[in-house]
Amino acid sequence: MAIVGAGPAGLTLARLLEVAGIESVVLEDRSRDYVEHRIRAGVLEQRTVDLLTEAGVGERMNREGIVHHGIELQFDGERHRIPLSELADGRTILIYGQTEVVKDLIAERIASGLPLHFEVSSVVVEPTTPRVTFRHEGSTHEVDCDVIAGCDGFHGVCRPSIPDGVLQEFSRDYPFGWLGILAQVAPSNDELVYAHHERGFALLSLRSPELSRLYLQCRPDEDIEEWPDERIWAELQARLGVEGWTLAEGPVLEKGVTGMRSYVVEPMQYERLFLAGDAAHIVPPTGAKGLNLAMADVRVLADSIVEWYRSGSDAPLEAYSENCLRRVWRAEHFSWWMTSMLHRPPEGDEFELKLQLSQLRYVTTSEAAARGLAENYVGLELV
Ligand code: APR
Ligand code: PHB
Repeated sequence: MAIVGAGPAGLTLARLLEVAGIESVVLEDRSRDYVEHRIRAGVLEQRTVDLLTEAGVGERMNREGIVHHGIELQFDGERHRIPLSELADGRTILIYGQTEVVKDLIAERIASGLPLHFEVSSVVVEPTTPRVTFRHEGSTHEVDCDVIAGCDGFHGVCRPSIPDGVLQEFSRDYPFGWLGILAQVAPSNDELVYAHHERGFALLSLRSPELSRLYLQCRPDEDIEEWPDERIWAELQARLGVEGWTLAEGPVLEKGVTGMRSYVVEPMQYERLFLAGDAAHIVPPTGAKGLNLAMADVRVLADSIVEWYRSGSDAPLEAYSENCLRRVWRAEHFSWWMTSMLHRPPEGDEFELKLQLSQLRYVTTSEAAARGLAENYVGLELV
């Protein structure tokens, strides 16, 4: 197996294959340091936690991760709790940074002595042969393999190596982005707060008992230079503030702006190349689904490869995309729905605003509506 990309998808796949006794080479174009310090989301569904635990890479996650049983939705200056576990079969979510998941997976791969090459360049993927060539430490290498896993994210080389006309793309861009900070301060609330506000959406999240993660809706092309720390805190206070509560502030360790997009490619495969994670689909971060989708893809892919070797039949590999896409589209819908409900619509669209508030009132008063949110948020197997 050749695995292109050492994000959560590629590294988890490599580990699942290792456990099954299948050899793989992992290729990553960035440095180990870069990959281990890229700040990403941090909400793990139960099935993601189970997968990592079963794969033997969940020890630190289970020790340091923080179990959450609910989230809060805020609008009209009030907070409303959605009791996720009560509504969704006792399931919980675990707060543990994607960055930490990646560090744990890399440490395991290196300890096992199996091939993981950072800072490769000129990666060329031939899906039909199948073969991957790349440059590493001054020489050119060739991997003749049975299967190639395209786990190289949205901007990778695998998807573009599929001939024109094979793939169909579905996408939506949003007229806003998120400005995110990581701050050295104890989280001001025990649970995540998703806030609808006339100044724009805000999210209170966390990484650990000492680290808060906070986001503000902004323009997709927002210039971070225009956002000194004081301005960010003032805006967070305004959007997240409720009577009798203030947001604790602390040193900002990291800040950045990300755009938001929904994107799916169908099918998620061509010949012997299989796309997984962000290489095949993108969700806006509001539903916290990106990492969880990537993990669910590689579980299906690993099982398909194992079954393909065992049975000698192509059927398990041929079914990969179909086995993923129903779950992918459920998460696409949920992420789009959460995004549409919570973000300030473009100036003057009062109709949209009224719809959002009506929907927020509905999910915070009807148990049936809240259950729909909860089941999707924790990632129950619904489809
Ligand atoms: N060759 C080798 N590696 C590459 C190439 C290339 N040509 N292009 C990109 N990569 C690497 C990237 O540097 C990155 O480390 O592929 C990796 C892809 O990892 P992610 O972007 O983290 O994607 P994925 O593993 O699918 O994880 C999905 O990450 O982007 C978030 O929100 C998303 O949480 C979700 C998760
Ligand atoms: C995060 O903690 O980074 C986070 C949490 C919830 C989201 C998105 C991101 O919906």
